[in-house]
Amino acid sequence: NEQPGYQVETHPQELFLTAGASQGLDLACTLFAKSGDLVFVEEPTYFVIEKIFREHNLDVVGVSTDEHGMIVSDLRDKLESGMRPKFVYVIPTFQNPTGVSLSESRREELMVLAEEYDFFIFADEVYQLIYFDAPPLPPLRAFDKHNRAISFGSFSKILAPGLRTGWIHAAEETVAKFTSSALAFSGGGFNQFGSVLIKHVIDLGLLKKNTDLLRKVYSDRSRLMGDALLREFGSSVAYTCPKGGFYYWIQFPEGFDTEKFLSECEDQGVSYRPGNSFSESGKFARYLRLTFTLYEETEIKEGVSRLGAAYKKFT
Ligand SMILES: Cc1ncc(COP(=O)(O)O)c(C=O)c1O
Repeated sequence: NEQPGYQVETHPQELFLTAGASQGLDLACTLFAKSGDLVFVEEPTYFVIEKIFREHNLDVVGVSTDEHGMIVSDLRDKLESGMRPKFVYVIPTFQNPTGVSLSESRREELMVLAEEYDFFIFADEVYQLIYFDAPPLPPLRAFDKHNRAISFGSFSKILAPGLRTGWIHAAEETVAKFTSSALAFSGGGFNQFGSVLIKHVIDLGLLKKNTDLLRKVYSDRSRLMGDALLREFGSSVAYTCPKGGFYYWIQFPEGFDTEKFLSECEDQGVSYRPGNSFSESGKFARYLRLTFTLYEETEIKEGVSRLGAAYKKFT
């Protein structure tokens, strides 16, 4: 209730505490898929989670994205061609790495497809509460008439990643699968200590205070990075200023290779994640991802100016 950005009713029996979104997703693979099963991910997507799917020997196939998130008609084409996924992994809000959010109509259509073709949606919603001016669209659970969505949240982005605590929000019968898993049965939970600590943080009103602060600080840092990018690159690269989340996703001209550019940047003392690390498809050679949340304002300015200097030298 204290987080207006969440916008979806939550009951205790629909929640399950994890040791972070990554651990929750790993356990969900164990419970809802088996080796060799087909799963869909956005192209590009957060590479670490894709690696978790591969570690479960799942057959990972990419679905195209644009400025409104996953292109659900591409997903529909794949389903109509006979492909049958166990689940679709999607980061609906302030996606990693692109920063974009799935539109309302696509959220609705995605949930319809999940019911029609009998698969789960693994909704990685760790950036839901990191919005700048206005709250984003509600999490996929708000569009979930048939209990197809499993939402993965995390205190990593809103409190402290080292606490290794997150949550799953799903229908009661889905949550029951997690609570009755052998791992949960054996340990009784995944982070009892962190969870109790966080309960006190919430009860003392400190989580609300922290998320309010993060929204302000990250919004300022994001704006500052946008200004610095404009100063250094003008119109030679393309990007949209994020409305929340952690990232700028920058598109360079056709033929540019951000993996090759990286060593020039490292010589200048600045770094980033090249686009192709977010997809096995190799389609994102001309993209790179920048993060603004970790750095003070002077460091952001200096970092972008080094990036600009490296670009001038490289081209
Ligand atoms: C989309 C996404 N999901 C999950 C995580 C990791 O979350 P956790 O620390 O809760 O495992 C990250 C961290 O970068 C992320 O960007």
